[in-house]
Amino acid sequence: SAPDPDDLRALAVRVATEAGELAAQGQEGITVLDTKSSPTDVVTEMDRATEELIRSRLLAERPGDAFLGEEEGGDEAGTAPVRWIVDPIDGTVNYLYGSPDWGVAIAAEVDGQVVAAAVAQPGRGRSYEAVRGRGAFLDGERLVAPEAVPLERALVATGFGYVPERRRHQARVLLGLVPGIRDIRRTGSAAVDLCGLASGQCNAYYERGLNPWDWAAPGLVAAEAGLRVAGARGGPPSEDLVVAARPELFEELEPLLLELGADRDE
Ligand code: IPD
Repeated sequence: SAPDPDDLRALAVRVATEAGELAAQGQEGITVLDTKSSPTDVVTEMDRATEELIRSRLLAERPGDAFLGEEEGGDEAGTAPVRWIVDPIDGTVNYLYGSPDWGVAIAAEVDGQVVAAAVAQPGRGRSYEAVRGRGAFLDGERLVAPEAVPLERALVATGFGYVPERRRHQARVLLGLVPGIRDIRRTGSAAVDLCGLASGQCNAYYERGLNPWDWAAPGLVAAEAGLRVAGARGGPPSEDLVVAARPELFEELEPLLLELGADRDE
């Protein structure tokens, strides 16, 4: 039988909290271990150690589940009822620089749909969680995202990924966007952006080039706080584009982003 999403949430929260403590203890004196898509796309030993802790805790409790992790966890799909989608440290560059804006993101997917999520943000002492259809919570308090504002008053969070050619084009997209909005924010963590959106720290978020582990858990938190979280042209979130906002603002922002080419590389 299908697992109760609330049990998956409880497990995700417990493991994200423990992983957050481990990562927080290791933040001081951390150094770069390796690079990924470009010389500035870094991995630290704590990304790997934290992912390993998460994987072992989840699979000890629920042997046979599938696991997709940012660092090492190849996609062990198969016939498992639950797939865990994990970003051990989202915002690795912030983590490396001693900034508090990073998070541990754990999502549980059943039949291709994310049903439960936890995002721990130890640097800020915040813990977000959500269950599909049952709401999003910040430190135990129900989250309801603030009402939409008109595009010209919208504070829009975004990110650029780490691939140089893509960043160049995204800078051009911003040139078209910035004059028509309140301002942009770039925290350096998609999880912080999406959870921050759910708790009112900005009005919208978009990014191209994300991977499922970047949006799975915080995307459910945002959706359960009343935000529309989608991709381009009515599709689901994808590597091409993730957009999140209150529906009225989403309907203004998404067409403009497409007009500016935010879902393309040039
Ligand atoms: C990154 C952050 C960043 C976003 C990048 C992601 P990581 O995740 O979420 O804000 O712009 O696209 O890769 O690498 O720090 O886990």
